[in-house]
Order: sequence, then C-alpha cells, then structure tokens
Amino acid sequence: MIITKAITVTPGTQKSLALRDIHEPVPKKKELLLRVKEVGICGTDIDIVSGFYGEPPAGSEYLVLGHESLARVEEAGPGCDGFRKGDLVVPTVRRNCPENCLSCRSGESDMCTTGHYKEHGIKGLHGFASELAVTDSRFVTTLPESLSEVGVLLEPLTIVEKGISQSFVMQNSRMKWRPESALVLGSGPVGLLATAALRLMGLSVTTVARKPPGSVKAKLAASTGADYVDVTETPLSSMEDRFDLVFEATGSTSVALEAQNLCGTNGVVSFVGIYKSEVETEDAGRVFTNLVLGNRVFFGSVNANISYFHRGAKDLVRIRNKWKGFLEGMLTDKVSLDEAESAYGPKSEKTVKTVLQISQD
Ligand code: BGC
Repeated sequence: MIITKAITVTPGTQKSLALRDIHEPVPKKKELLLRVKEVGICGTDIDIVSGFYGEPPAGSEYLVLGHESLARVEEAGPGCDGFRKGDLVVPTVRRNCPENCLSCRSGESDMCTTGHYKEHGIKGLHGFASELAVTDSRFVTTLPESLSEVGVLLEPLTIVEKGISQSFVMQNSRMKWRPESALVLGSGPVGLLATAALRLMGLSVTTVARKPPGSVKAKLAASTGADYVDVTETPLSSMEDRFDLVFEATGSTSVALEAQNLCGTNGVVSFVGIYKSEVETEDAGRVFTNLVLGNRVFFGSVNANISYFHRGAKDLVRIRNKWKGFLEGMLTDKVSLDEAESAYGPKSEKTVKTVLQISQD
C-alpha cells in the first residue's frame, strides 16, 4: 500500500493540525492523479485550523487541508481527455451538489442554490496539501510553463475575477457604464490581486490599508501604478462618494459598512470577505438612503467556477509580463510540509502569502 504525506485537521477541533501518512488516493474515471507542487494558505485555512469551519469527507475523521493549489498531472486515466502527465494545472475548489441544481448543472457550482456543494480542503472533500491528490478533470485548468513559479496565486485571483466580472455584467446590463476609478479596500493577497486586475483594465485605482507606505504590501500595490493610502493617516471618510467600483477585501465588518459610502452615484460595491458579527453603530438609514438615491449596487460573491480560472490564467500571464516581480514579491514565505505547523501560525508584517512547497518539480 503506497503512503503519501498530508496536512490534516479534525474539523471542529482546535490544535488538531497534523502531518499524517495517508493512503495514496486512487483516481476514479474522469479523475486526475495530481502531484502537488504548492499550496497557498489563506484566512479560510486559518479558520478551519482554529476549529470554526470545515467538514471532513463522509466516513473520514480528518480533512486534508489546501484549496489554493498548483500541481502537475501524475496520471491522466480514462475520461481525462486533453491532459498529459507533467501538465501544470490548477483545480477549482467547488464541486456540484448531489441534486445537481440548475447552477451546478450549468457549470456554475459557485452559484449553487442548495448549499450541498463540496469544496476541496474545506467542505466534504480532501484538499491538496498532500504529495498526491485526486480531482475531477472537468474542473481543472492547464497553465503555461511561464506560470510555474506563481501559478499558486490563480485561485485567489479567481475570487477577484468573479467579483470584478460580475460588477461589469450587472452595471452594463442596467445602464451605459464607463468606470474610471476603483477603490480596493485591503492589501492582503486578494486586495493586491484586485489592484493589479483593475489596473490591467486601465482604471485609476486607489488601494487602502492600515499599513505605512514603506511596507511590503503598500509597495507592491504602488508598483502597479495604484495610489496607496494608509488609512491610519488619511481616514476613509475623506474618500466618500468618489469611486465607480469599490472592491471590499478586508473582511472587516466596520470597513464593509463604510465601503457603502465610498462608491459614487451609479457605483457598485463588491464584497468578498467573511464578516464576523460585531455590534455596529453605523447609521443604517443613511446607508439605505444612499443606496436608493445613488442607484448603487452592493453585492456579495463567493468561490469561482472554471470560467474564472481560464480568465484568471490569462490575466496572471498579463500581470507577470506587465509588472515584473509583482507576483513573485507576493510569495513571501515558503515552507516545506515538515514545517507546515509554523505556516498556519502568526505572521510577520512582511508576510503577504505563505505557500507550502510540496514538490520541487
Ligand atoms: C475559497 C472559496 C470558497 C470559500 C468558502 C474561500 O477561501 O477561496 O473557493 O468558496 O472560501 O468556503
């Protein structure tokens, strides 16, 4: 029996993170066997490790972590047309619900209506933080070799692609819309990728966060030509009513409430964070009156289907060509599987994205 190493947790149990020997997964028809190169770590992983989130696959007491991944095809069996051993690939996170609802059967499991979808490394399906993993080949994007050092950023970029693309779909279907300015709230990996994606579209972008202009994240944002604003110096309230598109990527409830006052008439606000219940004193009447009087759209967006992975792969190439070192500069901390525990622990101010390096190939 072949054994592979994996980073696992027992969902719902704190301090259950473990490097475990598990049986090598065996691909079924239409599934690829993947040799995982890298896995990125995000806030969702930290919530799972803290015991607040996550669900193991049926019949398993543990969950293999890892939903942001970059891998090579190890074996493409029957039904995996178009894939060859050695291909550089990234799988999507979510899989269809058992009911195969209208969204799921239309290729939009990111819009699943039953909520019974599964997510690799998060909900009901093992993730990719292991030497070998399997996934349905119909949910896998192939990347060019030029992305072999930065392709692990594709999954977080797809969250951005969906939020921005849906903003445009909604706005363009209700009026003539020519956005010029965008505000990105937050300078974590998603905020930085949103900054780059909006700059690629030619928008004038302001990125705000609670970091000094000399910090790693601020410098990365500014390197794309965005204006970086430290909100500890310039309060958000001084930027009210100005932006055509606001992208909220801090996950902070108070910032999310304020975000609504920052978009201008006919503007749109895209929320992609997970917001904790906090007591707020914001004037909800003002928020809703502004929403109506300004014809504004506020919407939430989670996960991303394969179409955003295809689109994101193209944008990743464009970002890499346009701002040399930007994507590489985001990958600040690289750790091996054996040191994984530190990867899920507290981070320094210099950390942007922590990545588990699983295979060097
Ligand atoms: C992932 C999404 C997922 C969401 C909720 C995020 O971290 O990027 O793919 O849908 O968590 O589980």
